[in-house]
Amino acid sequence: MDKQFLEDVKMGLSSSPKFLSSKYFYDEAGDKLFQKIMELDEYYLTDCEFEIFTSHKADLLEHFVSACELFHLIEFGAGDAFKTKVLLRYFLEQNVAFEYNPIDISLNVIDQLTVGMNQAFPDLALSPLNLEYFKAVEEIGRQSTCRKVILFLGSNIGNFTETEADNFFLKLAALLKKGDQLLIGFDLKKDPEVILAAYNDRQGITREFNMNLLKRINRELDADFNVSQFYHYPLYDPASGSAKSYLISRKKQQVRIGAIPATLDFEEAELIFMEISQKYGLEDIENYASRAGFRIAANFFDRRKYFVNSLWELK
Ligand code: TRP
Repeated sequence: MDKQFLEDVKMGLSSSPKFLSSKYFYDEAGDKLFQKIMELDEYYLTDCEFEIFTSHKADLLEHFVSACELFHLIEFGAGDAFKTKVLLRYFLEQNVAFEYNPIDISLNVIDQLTVGMNQAFPDLALSPLNLEYFKAVEEIGRQSTCRKVILFLGSNIGNFTETEADNFFLKLAALLKKGDQLLIGFDLKKDPEVILAAYNDRQGITREFNMNLLKRINRELDADFNVSQFYHYPLYDPASGSAKSYLISRKKQQVRIGAIPATLDFEEAELIFMEISQKYGLEDIENYASRAGFRIAANFFDRRKYFVNSLWELK
């Protein structure tokens, strides 16, 4: 059993209001459900980023290449690298010297990605790292002095609070050198209905994705959540730009978690806060960059301006 998982669940569910950390969404079932989310019609984020990469790959490459013998294309949370393949294919066609360093804390993901990449791109210089993000950047820096270009895609930054995001950028800046780059996906503020629908799909996959964490707690921590006694409640506040998701108790009930061991009380309509997906204005992005010591080298948009891939360079 994962000790940290137990500690985090214990802490979150004994807080008021209750919360669970979304990093635990991604077990094997969660990975599959997330894959399905990315294919949903309502979930526009993946399509936008795919479109941006397809239409701006030449511009991106021009920014990435440096005087060094190669650059490191380092992807945080690479997953199946579906969108990144657009760039990899183009860079290989252009015969540019780069090394692709996908980083993922799931060994399973890294193994599958390695097999897939060797098949799709036999000529790719591939050096995956199964490490935590910052450790991986340090490791690459020990082995090479060439430019690092870090990809942090999918508006994953939006799953951090503002303070967490600031800390993340500052920590990263401390590990990078002048001229190193960061390409970050930010989902932009837009029609609130469009945003809410992305987190409240008709097929209920996003609901399943959230519920899967309760099921995971049942499986791994010997708990007895009756998932039908909770419902998924996503909301979007256009003033703050925060999309949030909650699971709400349908009635007063008790849940036993064998691994703690403890019995938890839920009131009728009591919330478990699951996740934030922050949406941004361009000025928010500028503020984040400058607070961490980066300059914005370019912003790449899809044609609807739903999403931006912002390219930052360390000053
Ligand atoms: N970071 C992406 C987003 O906020 C992907 C994501 C994380 C997501 N958790 C999610 C998408 C839950 C849907 C539901 O959109």
